Amino acid sequence: MSCRIGLIYDKLSVKIVDTIETKYTDGQKKVTKDAIYDILNRKYEVVKILADEKIIEYLIESKIDLAFNLSTGIRGESRQSQIPSILEMLGISYVGSGILAHALALDKSMAKQIFTYHNISTPAFQIFHTHNEQLNAHLKFPLIVKPACEGSGYGIHKDSVVYNKKDLEKKAEELLQKYRPPVLVEEFIEGREFTVGIIGNGMDKIILPIMEINFDDIPEKYGKFNTFIVKTELEEQTKFICPAQVSVALEQAIKDEVSRAFDALGCRDISRADIRVKNNQPYVIEINSLPGLKPGYSDLTKMALEAGVAYDDLIFMIVDNAMKRTKQTKL
Ligand SMILES: Nc1ncnc2c1ncn2[C@@H]1O[C@H](COP(=O)(O)OP(=O)(O)OP(=O)(O)O)[C@@H](O)[C@H]1O
Ligand SMILES: [Mg+2]
Repeated sequence: MSCRIGLIYDKLSVKIVDTIETKYTDGQKKVTKDAIYDILNRKYEVVKILADEKIIEYLIESKIDLAFNLSTGIRGESRQSQIPSILEMLGISYVGSGILAHALALDKSMAKQIFTYHNISTPAFQIFHTHNEQLNAHLKFPLIVKPACEGSGYGIHKDSVVYNKKDLEKKAEELLQKYRPPVLVEEFIEGREFTVGIIGNGMDKIILPIMEINFDDIPEKYGKFNTFIVKTELEEQTKFICPAQVSVALEQAIKDEVSRAFDALGCRDISRADIRVKNNQPYVIEINSLPGLKPGYSDLTKMALEAGVAYDDLIFMIVDNAMKRTKQTKL
């Protein structure tokens, strides 16, 4: 019996936040949806399902066996969990993390509390609900100020790194106005940056070759870290080194930390973790439970290629892992 897969995608121009960032993300999403549709269509019956307010009706009509969800949600709190919640309610199996893991991964302040509980190394932090919170004495400048519940570089700019209380308050105030609170203030780890792809679950988890993101050639005026502008406009000047040149011990330490972080949040099937390393100690910056899959562009697709996994094989690998999991656990 052939499997019918529903490819769930976002309507373009969903105004999560009204900034230059929204327009850019739309373009990425369309390319990804079209590429995955063409690939899955070679092996399965595939229906495209738009993620809007009527999605429950579309899903009931579609009679799918499995959902491949690309939607980051429609709006509001924990939005990446919205489609998984509906799928759970309708009893439809789906690729990727469940409701809670997406909610935790999207809210870095929550994810970091869980990492801390599990002794997973993450930069020291404080959660700001107002711009003038009393700064914890143990936090050392420079600090980075980020929206707690965003991704894709939203709200990450050169002035996100602050060196004094005045700039910290100013930035926190700006972010509290622009984005869903709270704001996350954490120690800025000055060191090498890596990103790590994870496919699968439990003992069968595959950690893809680690990628280093090197900002040496980025002019100082843009900031030497993964700001929204660096990510979207300065790709040519950013060096993506995969596999990363690291000692065996550091490679193992990074992989262990990433694997533990994935499990601690309860992620499934696919994720990408961002890591910074200082004094040979990896720090988990975040886990992206719904990582970008734009062919040839998104980090995860590049890491897979380095492991000898072409884009179409990567998509099938993700689906196969999800099918195996849903058969084993009925989830
Ligand atoms: N504590 C930190 N120390 C050093 N650099 C940091 C820290 N937090 C964030 N950064 C830098 O800012 C970038 C973006 O931060 P982060 O990954 O938290 O945001 P994001 O918008 O969720 O990213 P993504 O685009 O991966 O979804 C990181 O890749 C890193 O370069
Ligand atoms: Mg990141």
